[in-house]
Amino acid sequence: MLRAQYATRGPRPADVIEAVEFTPAPLVEGQALLQVLAAPINPSDVLTLTGEYGMLPPLPAIGGNEGVGKVVELGPNTTGPAVGTTVLLPVGVGTWATHVVADAKKLVPLPGNADPVQLSMLTVNPPTAFLMLRDFVTLAPGDWVIQNGANSAVGGYLNQLAKLKGYRTVSVVRRESAIASVEAADVVIVDGPDLHKRVAAATGKAKIRLGIDCVAGAATDRLASCLAEGGTLVNYGRMSGEVCHVSPGSFVFKDLTLRGFWLVLWFRKATPQEQTAVFGEIAQLVATGKLSARVQATFDVREIKAAVALAASGERAGKVVIVPKV
Ligand SMILES: NC(=O)c1ccc[n+]([C@@H]2O[C@H](COP(=O)([O-])OP(=O)(O)OC[C@H]3O[C@@H](n4cnc5c(N)ncnc54)[C@H](OP(=O)(O)O)[C@@H]3O)[C@@H](O)[C@H]2O)c1
Repeated sequence: MLRAQYATRGPRPADVIEAVEFTPAPLVEGQALLQVLAAPINPSDVLTLTGEYGMLPPLPAIGGNEGVGKVVELGPNTTGPAVGTTVLLPVGVGTWATHVVADAKKLVPLPGNADPVQLSMLTVNPPTAFLMLRDFVTLAPGDWVIQNGANSAVGGYLNQLAKLKGYRTVSVVRRESAIASVEAADVVIVDGPDLHKRVAAATGKAKIRLGIDCVAGAATDRLASCLAEGGTLVNYGRMSGEVCHVSPGSFVFKDLTLRGFWLVLWFRKATPQEQTAVFGEIAQLVATGKLSARVQATFDVREIKAAVALAASGERAGKVVIVPKV
């Protein structure tokens, strides 16, 4: 069995992580052994390796925060999904591995006939898109939403969910070459000077009340400039590495509200019933192919360095996913 482990953090994430052999201890009551089927590498995983994320596990640690697996064995006197069942792996178990041991009570069964690679991305990005669309501004069919970093996985899910709800979307990307990859958007536009004028022209001067920003820096203010008076801008990432800039003009003359979103806080606050309702809806959409993310490449655990290096690079055509060979 193999897992991707790191004992230090550093600016070059591929340098600190390596695949190591391991043998799990015999299972005790309440535990399950799982074969990992697929586990993505998200920007938050990269920031965890560099030490820049909002929550860091103690070292040494196993990489990977989410994924999907198959039950191989249950511990003595343990009830849980039957051997062979496809399950969502609990958050934070260290999913870049051929196998993980997890608390059997935390395993959520998933449809065994759905694409494991798509299911493996279910825990983080789809609920982020779902909740940002639902919880900040009350939207009605026909209303507009604008987001940057729109060729990201979250961006794709957000566009797909918006379309299902009947909302219209402006997708802002940072490069011409990303335009063709943005599906399900009403308007796709390249970020830059006069963004608000180009957006106004493309939407017929629509009053956009919700903006979604994962880039930060000056891009935050360009998104703010596109919003209608009283609009809400939600920042949920900092792909530029910068702090959010918003001009006083946006706050004062348009009375904008800038909010933050972190899924970790939602997990802490939402009741189990609320979480089940959100994940039930999302899992159904992913399992039936109505929600999906593009995948650029899959790698074995032993190729973890190449996988992390690719995931940390810009201008990708989709997610990098660990699909262990066993
Ligand atoms: N707050 C939360 O709870 C939460 C939850 C999930 C995700 N997130 C955040 O959501 C964002 C997107 O995640 P993801 O998994 O969907 O990402 P992803 O699929 O890996 O895509 C990354 C996106 O970032 C863009 N990007 C990369 N470097 C950039 C730069 N220097 N300046 C501007 N844009 C840049 C990429 O554009 P190119 O293709 O042009 O490189 C691409 O659109 C990340 O910031 C992530 O941390 C936050």
